[in-house]
Amino acid sequence: MNNYRKKILITGGAGFIGSHVVRLFVEKYPKYQIYNLDALTYAGNLENLKDLEERPNYNFIKGDINDEKFIINIFSRHEFDGVIHLAAESHVDRSITDPLAFVRTNVLGTMNLLNAFKNTWDNDYEDKLFYHISTDEVYGSLGESGLFTETTSYDPNSPYSASKASSDHFVRAYGETYGLPYVISNCSNNYGPNQFPEKLIPLFINNILNNKPLPVYGDGNYTRDWLYVLDHARAIDLIYHKGKNKETYNIGGFNEWKNIDLVKLLCEQMDEKINREKESSEKLITYVKDRPGHDLRYAIDASKIKIELGWEPSVTFEEGLSKTIDWYLSNEDWLMNVTSGDYQKYYLKQYS
Ligand code: NAD
Ligand code: TYD
Repeated sequence: MNNYRKKILITGGAGFIGSHVVRLFVEKYPKYQIYNLDALTYAGNLENLKDLEERPNYNFIKGDINDEKFIINIFSRHEFDGVIHLAAESHVDRSITDPLAFVRTNVLGTMNLLNAFKNTWDNDYEDKLFYHISTDEVYGSLGESGLFTETTSYDPNSPYSASKASSDHFVRAYGETYGLPYVISNCSNNYGPNQFPEKLIPLFINNILNNKPLPVYGDGNYTRDWLYVLDHARAIDLIYHKGKNKETYNIGGFNEWKNIDLVKLLCEQMDEKINREKESSEKLITYVKDRPGHDLRYAIDASKIKIELGWEPSVTFEEGLSKTIDWYLSNEDWLMNVTSGDYQKYYLKQYS
């Protein structure tokens, strides 16, 4: 497999998860040509991939998956063997204020990619694959017990998760209707380097550094299942190469945390790393108005990918969180660049 000169299109490669997937593929498969297609929205940042710019098997294409003509054009020019589709609007809070943007990119953008892939190969799909990256949020919310499996019914509650669910359905429909080869994976909450500070962990790291309040939504008893982003990237590599056609794989950390407990652990690690007095960051915790439609609990049963493909997380949460904080502390310029300008407007609108 490694010797085959595949052309792989990775969409959203300048974003958080995409940047780690691009790096893994470029470094691990020198014979593949990797094309990173990204519109460079507020969440996309080429700084995330600076170290790859001179690699002969890495190509960056700036473009919008909503631009149908452009997508048709790049597919006819490059005839991609595989697509790993991560480009998306990804933040639940933004989906509450601008749901249509999520329909455009997550649903219609995905349709443009599916159509271009289908028309490029015209039923001759040998050794071709469309890999759609999705989220556990499509399954809706769990109560105090139970886990999401691959057969859990879809029950999305936010405009973000509804748009992701819709795109998952279209990918499956293209598989059934047109025989398009696909895999889908639904992953739990990721954390790690390069995550935009609108999501819980990097937002709170940035606020602690700046001595700003830590806005915990509601009572803080919401639960998420956290996975280190490099473990997600490894799972994507495995599924791309070994996953079965038309299958879904759930990916999760076996690592549930109530938000408030996670935030306290983060505060503790931060105090130690930036030499602040014990419990000083915790004093920044502020309970704020809850998110509308806030899902109580997500938790993944990742036994299928473990049994079938031999994948499991490689770091504990304490280790992963520590590495993540270290990355933000040694990349303060990155953090300053992404939190200037429009970020301030977003922050005021969301939290004032
Ligand atoms: P992100 O917001 O950090 O990055 C998204 C990337 O897509 C950015 O680089 C952005 O510029 C690009 N993009 C957005 N709209 C585009 C468009 N119209 N055309 C081209 N590029 C566009 O997101 P992320 O957290 O890295 O998530 C990546 C994927 O993984 C998404 O599909 C998301 O639904 C899924 N996912 C994320 C998580 C998580 O915890 N972050 C968990 C499970 C699944
Ligand atoms: P987030 O990182 O936005 O991921 P998702 O909504 O996709 O799970 O949020 C993780 C959890 O943290 C979620 O329960 C909402 C909560 N949260 C806060 O309490 N305060 C915040 O400022 C943010 C961004 C999230």
